[in-house]
Parts: sequence; structure tokens; C-alpha cells
Amino acid sequence: MKIAVIGTGYVGLVTGVALAEIGHTVTCIDVDPEKIAELNQGIPTIYEPGLGEMMLRNQKRQRLHFTDQHRVGLDGADVVYLAVGTPQLADGSANLRYIEQAAMDVAEHVQESVIVVIKSTVPVGTNVRIKQLMLSHVRSGVTIRIASNPEFLREGSAIHDTFHGDRIIIGTEDQETANVLEEINAPFGIPVVRTDVSSSEMIKYASNAFLATKISFINEIANLCEKLGADVEEVAKGMGLDHRIGSAFLKAGIGYGGSCFPKDTNALVQLAGNHHHDFNLLKSVIEVNNHQQRLLIEKMLTRFGSLSGKKVAVLGLAFKPNTDDLRESPALVLIPKLTELGAEVVCYDPIAANQGSKWISAPAVYTNSVAKALNDADCAVIVTDWPDIKRMDPQTFARLLREPIVFDGRNCYSIPAARKADIEYYSIGRPDVIPEVSK
Ligand code: UDX
Repeated sequence: MKIAVIGTGYVGLVTGVALAEIGHTVTCIDVDPEKIAELNQGIPTIYEPGLGEMMLRNQKRQRLHFTDQHRVGLDGADVVYLAVGTPQLADGSANLRYIEQAAMDVAEHVQESVIVVIKSTVPVGTNVRIKQLMLSHVRSGVTIRIASNPEFLREGSAIHDTFHGDRIIIGTEDQETANVLEEINAPFGIPVVRTDVSSSEMIKYASNAFLATKISFINEIANLCEKLGADVEEVAKGMGLDHRIGSAFLKAGIGYGGSCFPKDTNALVQLAGNHHHDFNLLKSVIEVNNHQQRLLIEKMLTRFGSLSGKKVAVLGLAFKPNTDDLRESPALVLIPKLTELGAEVVCYDPIAANQGSKWISAPAVYTNSVAKALNDADCAVIVTDWPDIKRMDPQTFARLLREPIVFDGRNCYSIPAARKADIEYYSIGRPDVIPEVSK
């Protein structure tokens, strides 16, 4: 099967590389010639474990190509995947400008009938609109069949998720198109769910909104646990063992971030509103998350009264571990607020340190040395549960900080470990640890 993928961002690149790996001939097309030049040299343009090796292997096999020329990339393609971004507009809705442009580019260049597969997350009804748009721009005699095939990849484990996903959703208008898509995906060996196009589009939004709801739910339980003296980790464990609930996405913390949950929850609220449906539940999920991202500031102000002149070590910038992505990271809320309150901020991140100043205009120092960040600081604040931070002996805080005070937004250490290390430890949804001497 000859496949073209439009867009070499996160979703497009992973999709193209994985389809080549299972035996298809794939050409990835992007309008950015610099990106294409890098990719053609075998350099992946995103950080994703396992991607680089797989990409290079398939380039060597001549199954994976990159071009900035639509005419070249689309030549002879049986199937075209659209995998461009659908960023958030000011009102929360999805910006469809890029996907419409990608569709027009395909319509202009295809010489024969093709199947167009939309991978990008798009509001319900977009696939059908894209088809109409393309049909009004293709040369006569060319037919377009569409398929919605949403991705469920997590950053940092996208390659693993592609090959070990729980399901592949294929939404089409006819069974022949579904047959082709099922055949393309067969080597993955993942169960396929066939559905209509609108339901497929909705499955993506509903899945992300549900996972975000689970996170905000456990975060509200955590906030209540703090007031009632319970421990949210114990509560989540007890809840998660009920298979109807499940243990995934019950980790309390300072909220979800990243490129999907915040954007997709806002877009679904907006989409519902456009159809005169007030999605109150999801609005609350978003509100809880916004509050959660500010929670550590509240805890610090309760502890210190004022943060003016305090040196604060922020551990972690990325929205979660194993990615250098800062999109919607709680760090983007926390760091500007700390500097606004007069704190001096030193931030550590093992791989995203060099991204800090690109995203945050507030004055802060960025380092990839945890010791440098902690040295002589008045307290430490944990934003990302990086494995090296979790593995660190909490006594390190007592050794390096001016005062051993830790605000942990990701519950990296057990309460007994914090007690043993003799640190003052504030985490999420668990009892505070106050050493005898500072009481
Ligand atoms: C998510 C979805 O999982 C994926 O299916 C979708 O296609 C894209 O969005 P991703 O954004 O990469 O993937 O990250 P994920 O691992 O799902 O975590 C999202 C956020 O939720 C992170 O900020 C993470 O820290 C937070 N989270 C996750 C929690 O706070 N608690 C949890 O229990 C799980």
C-alpha cells in the first residue's frame, strides 16, 4: 500500500514511521523545508523514545521518505493521512485552518481517486466538511472517500502505544473504505472498531474528556483528603482495585497539561455550546484543573506568608516525565507567579531546561543539574515526576537546601520516606510532614 502523510508534527511523524515499520511505503509531506531537510538526514524533529532508530531503519529500507513537494509525495498514493495540528482558538474551539489547507493541497495535487484519513483531532462533523471541500477542488473524475482514524498516543510512549494500543477506531461512510483501512492496520494486531464517521470523531473527544474527568475527580478527592486527614494514594489504590473503576489516571497531583487534554476538553465544551448544550460536568473538570495548577502557590503562601526574596528551586518543567514538551505545563503557571510574588527562581529539568526561556518570559535560571537548582534554595517545588527526581533520596533536600522544605506536586516520595529524611514535606492529598524541631 502506498501511503502519504501530510504533517510531520508529533502525530504525523509517529504515524508515518509506524506505517513504514509494518511494511507500507510511506512519504511524509510537510510545508516546512527545514524540517524536511533534518528528517531526510535521519534526524527526528521531536523527542520520542524509540522513534529515531525506527525512522532510520525504514529510511534505509527505502520505505520511508520525506518531501516538501505535494506533487512528489502524493504521486501514486492510495491513501492520504491528514495529521496536521488543530490548535486552540481564543474561544477554546479548534482551529481548522491547517487541516483545511492540507485538504486543499491534497485536492489540488491528487491525480487519481484516494482515501483521505483524518488523524488530527477534529470536532464532530469536520470529516464530512473536509470531504465536501476537497470534492469542490479536485479535478473531474477523481473521487474522495474519507475515514476518521483518531490517535490515542501518549507523548513519551507514542511508539509503544502505536504497537500496543487498546483499539483502532475506524469511522467511514462505507464498508469498502473500512476494509482498506483495516487491511492497512492489520499488522499492528490491535482490535479494530468500525463505526460511522461522527461517532469516531466523538470517541476521541469523549476518551480524552473522560480521562481528564478522572484526573480532576481524584484531585478533588485529594483536596478533601487533606481537609479530613485521609491519604489520597490509599484512597486511589482502594478505588482502582474495583475493575469497574480501574487504577489508571487516578494519580492526584497539580493537574493535567500537555497538547491534548486542555485543548480537547475546551473544544468539547465549545462544541457542545455551539449546539445549545451546556456541558457543566466538563466545565467543572477544567475549573478544578485550573485551580489545581495554582495549588502549590497557595501551600507556599500558607507556609511562608510572603515569598518575597525567597530562593525557590523548581524541579521539572515538562508537563509530564519523558517529554521535553512544556505545553500547558503547570510550570507555566507556577514560575511567572513565583517571580511576580518576588521569589528568585532556579528551575531544573533533565531534558527540557533549554526550553524554559522560550516559554516563560519571567526572569528565572534554568539548569539540567538538580544539585545546582537545590543548592542554597529556601525550598523546593516538584512539578514533574521525572524518574531521577523520584529515585532521589529525600535526604538530598536536607543536605542541599538552606531549609529542608519541599512542596511536592506529584507525590514522588512516601510519607515514611519523607519522615525518615527529616524534611518538611507538603504533598497532594496526604498528611503534611513536619519534623519535630520545626513544629
Ligand atoms: C493524552 C492521552 O493519554 C492520549 O490518549 C491522547 O491521544 C493525547 O493526550 P498525553 O497528553 O501524552 O496523552 O499524556 P498523558 O500521559 O495522558 O497525561 C496527560 C496529563 O495528565 C499529564 O499532565 C499527566 O501528568 C496528567 N496525569 C495523568 C495526572 O495528573 N494523573 C494521572 O493519573 C494521569
